[in-house]
Amino acid sequence: MDIVRDLNALRDSVAAFRAAGQRVALVPTMGALHAGHVALIEAAKRPGTRVVASIFVNPKQFGPNEDLSSYPRREMADVRMLTEAGCDLLWLPSVEAMYPDGFATTVRVSGVSDGFDGAARPGHFDGVATVVSKLFNQVGPDAAYFGEKDYQQLAVVRRFVTDLDFAIDIVGVPTQRDDDGLAMSSRNIYLDDEQRKQAVALPRALGVAARAIAKGEDVDSVLDDARTTLVGAGFAIDYVALADAETLAENPAADRPRRLLAAARMGATRLIDNIAIE
Ligand code: PAF
Repeated sequence: MDIVRDLNALRDSVAAFRAAGQRVALVPTMGALHAGHVALIEAAKRPGTRVVASIFVNPKQFGPNEDLSSYPRREMADVRMLTEAGCDLLWLPSVEAMYPDGFATTVRVSGVSDGFDGAARPGHFDGVATVVSKLFNQVGPDAAYFGEKDYQQLAVVRRFVTDLDFAIDIVGVPTQRDDDGLAMSSRNIYLDDEQRKQAVALPRALGVAARAIAKGEDVDSVLDDARTTLVGAGFAIDYVALADAETLAENPAADRPRRLLAAARMGATRLIDNIAIE
């Protein structure tokens, strides 16, 4: 795997892939990679496709009281993992190169960005949409792969790709889970042993609620039950909500694809998860 830290070198490498008749797939990440990221690389690896991963801890998507300075950074382990996963090229821009002096542009996606994590983390999705737009312009991929664990992020990316005419296929990859069902996340390392055991209540409560909603039970009482279960397990809840799977509008019609979304804090660690209503 080649590693590039300079935009011209990135463009030369991508041009060489294209000259060899290859398609290009991008897997954007913030590093601290785990099996969930490996699943993205594996999904992106297709015959005739070169996989480019990016690692950039994007300051614009962290709020003032969030974990930007403590966000795990493990470049050597990440390089090893990407190499083993069969990634072809790693793009490692610096903050100064991504946001040089005078940088003044924000990509803001209204509607789908506004609720849930957008409400709990003001400015977060503006930061995501801005950096992902830049990564798309820097790499120029044919396809880009995102985990469904960050479901609202995926919906935001799909929205601006359509709105801004990016000719890029956006592929959502199912959430990878530990054996007990907890969604893999770079932030799970913040949980102590006891919190880690309790955290499994989140996917379990969502699973129970999703099955009840699919059976036609009253949505409000199902969501209330899920909240009660989570509080009983030691979570402080940001939201547990049912949304339209595409627009993320609340109170979706039962004949629309629907998604159950939750964010809750276990101690200082904020966990998110979501599940489709089948
Ligand atoms: O999901 C992430 O790791 C980040 O939000 C992303 C998409 C790489 C943008 O910084």
